[in-house]
Amino acid sequence: MLSIIVPTYNEGENIEELIRRIGKSLNGVEYEVLVVDDNSPDGTADIAEKLSKEFPIKVIRRAGKLGLASAVLEGFNKSVGDYVVVMDADLQHPPEVIPQMYEAVLEGCDVVVASRYVSGGSIVGWGLTRRIVSKTATMLAKLLIPKARNVKDPLSGFFMFKRDSLLGVSLNPKGFKILLELLVKGRYVNVCEVPYCFGLRVRGKSKLGFKEILNYLLHLITLSPYMTLIKFLLVGSLGTLVNLSALYLLRYIIGLEHLISSAVAIEASVINNYLLHELWTFRGRGGGTRLHRLLKFHVTTSLAITTQYVTSQLLHYGLGLESIISQFTGILLGFLINYVLSNSYVWPKMREI
Ligand code: GDD
Ligand code: MN
Repeated sequence: MLSIIVPTYNEGENIEELIRRIGKSLNGVEYEVLVVDDNSPDGTADIAEKLSKEFPIKVIRRAGKLGLASAVLEGFNKSVGDYVVVMDADLQHPPEVIPQMYEAVLEGCDVVVASRYVSGGSIVGWGLTRRIVSKTATMLAKLLIPKARNVKDPLSGFFMFKRDSLLGVSLNPKGFKILLELLVKGRYVNVCEVPYCFGLRVRGKSKLGFKEILNYLLHLITLSPYMTLIKFLLVGSLGTLVNLSALYLLRYIIGLEHLISSAVAIEASVINNYLLHELWTFRGRGGGTRLHRLLKFHVTTSLAITTQYVTSQLLHYGLGLESIISQFTGILLGFLINYVLSNSYVWPKMREI
């Protein structure tokens, strides 16, 4: 049995055609459609309810706009098929592709992605900006998540998988892209792609907005095995900003000497970084008290700065490299030392007992 999960928000104009086309495509296959509606003001759920007299549909009504990913998860939890399809309601994901995906699954693929980016796949009607956004988002996913590299279109919202792949796996309902969750956390062997044409949205409006893009980026960070390193880098960059702002304030607005302004600014950035690492990067890690860690972080930072300084001098005076190149290499090496020591000495992972 095939379970087709369709999250909907204001798809009243599309849902009937979708259900009819699914019915036609899956003639002879046992299936159920789970329409997970977030209380759409346009009455999508009622329309789906009416269609359920004619087609095998379960309508799941949720209290309000709780989001695409959690809708898919709720549909998954309430579905019973051995194979699960996730697709959009707006007909940009043509239901006619489902039989090909099903065939791939029967031939031994555990996860089948309907793909815009394999040969035969395409996108209709996107302007340059949307294409660039999509390509950039895809590249970022591949950069940060090694398991996304096996697929040309890891951001597709149209895919099929064996229910077993997610057995006992806990998925993050805030994670905007459920396919990424599946690729990272799921238990599967073979991933296949089937080309499709991502059509034009004829009726209704896209819900993709700035909020979704931000959520997506946060989701990538949480899924990435390089998560701690990325957070460390972000905090470090912010620390530099704090450092420079403090210097500006003390030196130019208050009018203190450079000697003092510089020292206080450095200390401000160290404290800023400490706090953010404590609360975010390495949250819940590290032995001893907070004061211990604050002192250890000072040791670490001092070593990092010393490394930076010594490297820079050695490269410049020893090897005769340009000042800027020497300094930059020093920064990189200092950063590495800082990261390695913070990770293993200030905030070590506690051993599980
Ligand atoms: N229940 C619920 N709640 N459904 C939602 C919500 C929500 O908050 N937001 C959107 N949906 C439903 C829409 O009704 C539609 O059926 C589907 O989710 C996709 O929304 P669109 O707004 O049409 O997204 P898109 O076309 O920009 O992007 C889609 O296609 C891309 C390419 O495959 C999404 O599926 C993307 O995830 C995908 O990358
Ligand atoms: Mn769409």
